This record gives sequence, structure tokens and C-alpha cells, in this order.
Amino acid sequence: MSRIPVTILGATGTVGQRFVRRLARHPSFEIAHLTASERKAGMRYADACDWRLEGESWAGLGDRVLELCDPGRAFSPIVFSALDCEVALSVEPAFARAGSLVFSNASAFRMEEDIPLIVPELNADHLELLAFQRRKRGWTGGIVCNPNCTTVVLLGALGPLHRAFGAQAVFAVSMQALSGAGYPGVSSIDATANVVPFIRGEEDKVETEARKILGLLGPEGIAEAGIEISASCNRVPVLEGHTIAASMRLTGSPSPADLVAALEAFVPDTAGLGLYSAPGLFLQVRREADRPQPRRDVEEDGGMRIQVGRVRSCPILGSKLVVLGHNTERGAAGASVLNAELALSRGMV
Ligand SMILES: NC(=O)c1ccc[n+]([C@@H]2O[C@H](COP(=O)([O-])OP(=O)(O)OC[C@H]3O[C@@H](n4cnc5c(N)ncnc54)[C@H](OP(=O)(O)O)[C@@H]3O)[C@@H](O)[C@H]2O)c1
Repeated sequence: MSRIPVTILGATGTVGQRFVRRLARHPSFEIAHLTASERKAGMRYADACDWRLEGESWAGLGDRVLELCDPGRAFSPIVFSALDCEVALSVEPAFARAGSLVFSNASAFRMEEDIPLIVPELNADHLELLAFQRRKRGWTGGIVCNPNCTTVVLLGALGPLHRAFGAQAVFAVSMQALSGAGYPGVSSIDATANVVPFIRGEEDKVETEARKILGLLGPEGIAEAGIEISASCNRVPVLEGHTIAASMRLTGSPSPADLVAALEAFVPDTAGLGLYSAPGLFLQVRREADRPQPRRDVEEDGGMRIQVGRVRSCPILGSKLVVLGHNTERGAAGASVLNAELALSRGMV
């Protein structure tokens, strides 16, 4: 079967480079266009992009010429967007109107009622919102979002536990990697041996996106899950991997052993689909007293595995644990590619 041409919007950035590396040898998708800002359009990818990943530089595509983010010049049936929110606001709808299915990392449209906000293992059925979106907006293409990089890590634990017991309240404190701020991101003077207890807009995203993703799809759209969530987000001197310490009130006050059993028994919505970028294990429960740790554990399954540890009782909310996930793979490029594979498997492309 021939591969489907794809466009990468924002191919020079932190997330864009991960898209290029993931898609350069993908069995179903073939990179047709790489785009960047007006400042770099027309340049060779190798000249315009300061490649910062391991492996072959520019994933072997250094001679490609960067194009403008314009569907008239860089159209593909599938588009992966690593654009900043403000740019995504106009560019992503332009591609969707032209007939592209846009898989977006930006926050611009995540909370719109007709935009699917997908973690394939947890709410694959929400992709059905695409039909509503196309009717409402008159688009032949569409936009599908993946959540914020902190939201998806929290959901790796909260999603299965909500399904097993019903979650009522969550208090989450994040310790977020520097790469989450893009490049060059936080200044070295602020980042070194320090904690910055503020990430603009992040806490609101975690609190709202998680409720939408765990909501139920009905004829009127998504009925959000009625979980109270309070998030405190912090930037810490870690390169890759967001760690979250979370306390939860779950219905029926399950014991730590009940939580571990439920986490390990969880069957993702993607089970059996054979999606190329799906991790061998969506969720791993660690038994060691001091794991998971970002430096040691975050690259498992190409950064797509979420790891939970320190499952124990909480004297205030009932249960507490630690959860770790890769912010630029599970929380960004890998998440979008997995969403596209899910859509392809459902015949939506
Ligand atoms: N980093 C993470 O962990 C993470 C996780 C989840 C989601 N996200 C989201 O993913 C998106 C990208 O983040 P990032 O960290 O990769 O950002 P980044 O490193 O700053 O890259 C931004 C990209 O957008 C392009 N761009 C900037 N202005 C543009 C314009 N006016 N027109 C067209 N292209 C333009 C840049 O091209 P030039 O090189 O030409 O400037 C670059 O390719 C953001 O929406 C972010 O919130 C990031």
C-alpha cells in the first residue's frame, strides 16, 4: 500500500523535530512538506533548523526546502501541527478548510465543543466528534487535538482509576521538564539548581482538558466528567519528562492494592488495533520505592509509556501516587502521530 503524504507545520521547533524523526520512516505516512515561518521558508532544512535530537541529523531530510504554512503550497491529506497557539489559530483552520485532517499540538482549539481532544487509549470514541465538526464548520478536513503534555501524564493514572472506581477530586503537583518550554525555553540562570513555581496557562489546561477527555460522548457532544481538579505546575531542572505527584478521592475508598490491581488490569481502547506508535505497555506500575524517575525511566517504549509508582494511602483524599511521562513524545509528537494512526484505523482518513 502506498504511504499517505503528510505536512509538518513548524518542522524546525522542539516538537517539529520530533515529528520529523518519527515520520521519516513511518510505514503509513510519507513526509511531503516541511514548513516554518516566513523567516525560514525557502531555506534548506539543514540550514534553517538547529537539530537537537540524537540519531541522524535532520532525519536524513536536510536537503528539503522549507515552505510557508499555506495550504495552497503545502497541502497534504494529513497535517501534523507543531505551531505556537497564536499561529495555529489561523493556519490550522485554513488547512482543515482545504480538506486536510490536522493533528494539532497547539492549545488553540482543544476546548472547543466540536474538536476531539484525544488520548487514544482512553477516549478513542471521541473521534466521532469529527462528523459534528464538519457539519458545524463546513470543512471537508478537520482538526483533532492531543492534550497538554501535563494533562496526558496525569491521565495515564487518573483515566484508568476513573474508569475502575470513579474519581471525585484530584490534587496534582507537577515537576515539569525544561524541554516543555520549547527552545531555548527558560533561561539557564533561572533553570539551574532552581524551581520556577509558575508556568503560564498550564494549571487551567490540566484542570479543564482532563474533564473533557474523561467525559462521555453523547448526541449533544461531550458531557464533561464531574471531577474537581486542582493543579500546581512547576518547572524543574530536568531535560525530558514531566513528573506529577497526585492525591485523589476515589469512590468507595479503594486500598493501594486495589489501585495497583486496577491500573494493571486496565485495557486501553487501542488494544488489538496494532497501531504502529502505540507503546507495548500503555501504563507500567513500578514497585521500587524510588521510581519512576525521569532520567532513568522516561524513554521506555520510545517515550510513549506512562509509569506510575509510590501508590499509597493519602490521609486527606484517600489515595496518592506519582506518575511520569515524556512531554515531547507522549505529550506532543508521539501523541499526534498515534491519533492519526487511530483515525486511519477507523477509516477516517
Ligand atoms: N515542548 C513541549 O513539550 C510541548 C508539549 C506539548 C505541546 N506543545 C505545543 O507544541 C507547539 C510547538 O511547541 P515547541 O515547543 O515545538 O515550539 P518551538 O520550538 O518554539 O517551535 C515553534 C515552531 O513554529 C514555527 N513558527 C513560529 N512562528 C511562526 C509563524 N508566524 N508562521 C509559521 N510558523 C511559525 C517555528 O518556525 P521558525 O523556526 O521559522 O521560527 C517553529 O517551527 C506549541 O503550541 C506548544 O504549546 C509543546
